[in-house]
Amino acid sequence: MDAVEAVASPNIALAKYWGKRDVELNLPVTGSLSVTLEGLETRARVALRHRPEDRVCFAGTPAPPVEARRISRFLQLFRELRGEPVGLDVDLASNFPVAAGLASSASTFAALGIAAAEVLGLSLSDRELSILARRGSGSAARSVFGGWVEWHAGAAADGTDSFAEPIAPSDWWDLSILVAVTDPAPKAVGSTDGMRRSEASPYFAAWRDSHAADLEELRAALQARDLPRLGATMEHNCLKMHALALSVQPPLLYWRPATVAVMQRVLTLRGEGREAWFTIDAGPQVKVLCPSSQAEAVAAALAEVSGVKTILRSRPGAGPRRSEARA
Ligand code: DP6
Repeated sequence: MDAVEAVASPNIALAKYWGKRDVELNLPVTGSLSVTLEGLETRARVALRHRPEDRVCFAGTPAPPVEARRISRFLQLFRELRGEPVGLDVDLASNFPVAAGLASSASTFAALGIAAAEVLGLSLSDRELSILARRGSGSAARSVFGGWVEWHAGAAADGTDSFAEPIAPSDWWDLSILVAVTDPAPKAVGSTDGMRRSEASPYFAAWRDSHAADLEELRAALQARDLPRLGATMEHNCLKMHALALSVQPPLLYWRPATVAVMQRVLTLRGEGREAWFTIDAGPQVKVLCPSSQAEAVAAALAEVSGVKTILRSRPGAGPRRSEARA
């Protein structure tokens, strides 16, 4: 096949990946649990080139050199498996604001890995793809799958046991995920850097040591479709992650005033009888989980919060798709 197109979606972590035991291999200190989104997508189109060097574009425009190099380094892992120095033509396009705490690196490296493996004729299992996607960006290990996904931290130094796997399908539970966008501009401190700095927090050991209990709670809540239990644990885990960021010097404050206002609105919505819980990644957007039957009312309430630019509506998605593309 000369050209392949793969589409993958970002995922939202309910128990976060925040801290690495190996920076080069993106090996996490803790496991994490996420849900892959529907509708928000990154498309990776990868074609074989007749030259040894890669060409990387973002929606038809040459990528900035730093990003092109990161992508080429990632593609190198696939070339090594094929054992041939073949250049690749890559075009990436996302239909949502990138680099704003919406995990665009997750959908990018998942889609890119799937398309690159296929165009290079590598027959890799989903587990192998997850391990490779992880090398591009940790959270991409989870975007290789749809529905509810757990990424195991693993213990091996070479990362062979640090992969994600699906734990419930996308139609397991009729929930909606609303993203309150408070600032679509690229974030000032990316996840990689934010994690590295957070590892110096005086609370880091407590984060690490309390994480397994959160994961267990989330798994049980998911199994029982118990939203208050799932939501409470998700919020708790998110606030612990941000407590790490806040407690380093200089501090790392990902929130805008509107981020806090949305969190507060979610709390008052619960007081009004709505079932809504929030989580926030390394950016100012707030992701809110609620039953689909309440999504309209919750979205309307959040849209009225001062400083909210837009509300994206999503639900658990089925995961990546791939197809042959015209070279
Ligand atoms: C806060 O996967 O973007 O979204 O591995 O350095 O590329 P790198 O980091 P990345 O970090 C995601 C951090 C998070 C939490 C999560 O998705 O689990």
